[in-house]
Order: sequence, then structure tokens, then C-alpha cells
Amino acid sequence: MELHEAIRRRRDVRAEFTGGRVDRATLTRLLAAAHAAPSVGHSQPWDFHVIRDPARLAAFRDHVLDRRAEFAAALPPGRRRVFDPIRIEGIVAAGTGVAVTYDPRRGGEHVLGRATIADTGPLSVALAIQNLWLAATAEGLGVGWVSFYEEGFLADFLGVAAPVRPLAWLCVGPVTHLADRPDLERAGWRRGLPLDEVVHWD
Ligand SMILES: Cc1cc2nc3c(=O)[nH]c(=O)nc-3n(C[C@H](O)[C@H](O)[C@H](O)COP(=O)(O)O)c2cc1C
Repeated sequence: MELHEAIRRRRDVRAEFTGGRVDRATLTRLLAAAHAAPSVGHSQPWDFHVIRDPARLAAFRDHVLDRRAEFAAALPPGRRRVFDPIRIEGIVAAGTGVAVTYDPRRGGEHVLGRATIADTGPLSVALAIQNLWLAATAEGLGVGWVSFYEEGFLADFLGVAAPVRPLAWLCVGPVTHLADRPDLERAGWRRGLPLDEVVHWD
């Protein structure tokens, strides 16, 4: 798939996973794409934890559904009605979870470019995630980013400790199709902005 087409077709997937599982060679290609991302000071501060055990996927899914229920309970009634039918995860159906962690120690004490802006570390990890997401789209696979979790819960789940931080859980798997529009637009939660509202010339 041509790059611009992959960028245009990429979607956050929750409901369209087939229940099948991506094979190891394909997943390794996606992880290699992630690992090719730019990073501050060439620190490559990411680690990818691949979770395929159905019982572990279900355990993480249960935690996420609890957090979803808390979020729903805090919404005003109008927003609650819009939110209720929205799926926010496809953790078990995807068959594979890739939890991405950030290690600020990677690259040593003097990370070139991070001295004044600590966020450049997590930003580098976000670029790796986007690489994986686009590579998956190009291979006809789906990715869904799940952030409805307590950071401490996911750290314990993965067996990592400070200063390492879990930054993302990605559901990765075969899909029936990729939707034309973001789920949140189709559900009436939020419309996307036109380009000219976010570009500020001169
Ligand atoms: C940092 C981040 C966290 C996200 N967390 C969730 C999440 O917990 N659950 C979910 O359903 N989607 C999540 N998403 C997906 C967004 O809702 C989605 O990207 C957005 O609605 C635009 O849709 P699109 O990705 O299909 O273009 C997350 C996306 C990002 C970048």
C-alpha cells in the first residue's frame, strides 16, 4: 500500500477484529517498523511486550472495562447516552496485545536533545507506535490504542517498575475491514476538525 493511502485508511479498531491472530513473522515486521522510528538522541527508549495468552488478555480487558464504567458514571446524562454504545477496546478479540513502555534510562545520562524537554522521550515512543500502526494498516491489519487503564496496574501486569512507564496498550489483529470514518465521529461523540482550523500560516 502506498504511504499516503495507509495514512488515509488507518483507523483505530475496536469492533472489527475477526477473532483470528496475526502470525509471528508479520508481527515481527510491525515491531521492526516501530523500532525504525526516530528517537531523541537516538535513544530508542521503547520496549514492546507482546501478550497473547487469552487469560492474560481477559484479565487486562476486565481492568479496562472497570475503568470504562467509572468514566461512564461520571458523565452528564446527555454525554452518557452517546457514550454507552461506544466500544473502547478490542483486547481479547484482537488476539494480540502489544504494551509499549518507556525507559528514560535508555541512551545514558546525557540524551542529546532531551536536556530541556523531557517530553521528547515519550514523544519518541509515540512515533514508534505510529510506525507500527501505519505498517499494520499497510498489511491489512487493525490496531486499537487502549488507554482506559491505571498506569500502576499495567506496570504490575507487565512486571516493570519506575522509572519505566507503560505508555500504551495496542490491540493488534486481523480485521474484517477498516471503517471509512473514525468510530467517535460515527457515534456522534466528536467530529474531526477541518485542516484549515489547525494550520496557522505566518
Ligand atoms: C493516545 C491515544 C489513546 C487512545 N485511547 C483510546 C482508548 O482507550 N479507547 C479507544 O477506543 N480509542 C482510543 N484511542 C483512539 C482514538 O479514539 C482515535 O484515534 C480517534 O477517535 C480518531 O479515530 P481514528 O484513529 O480511527 O482516526 C486512543 C488514541 C490515542 C492516540
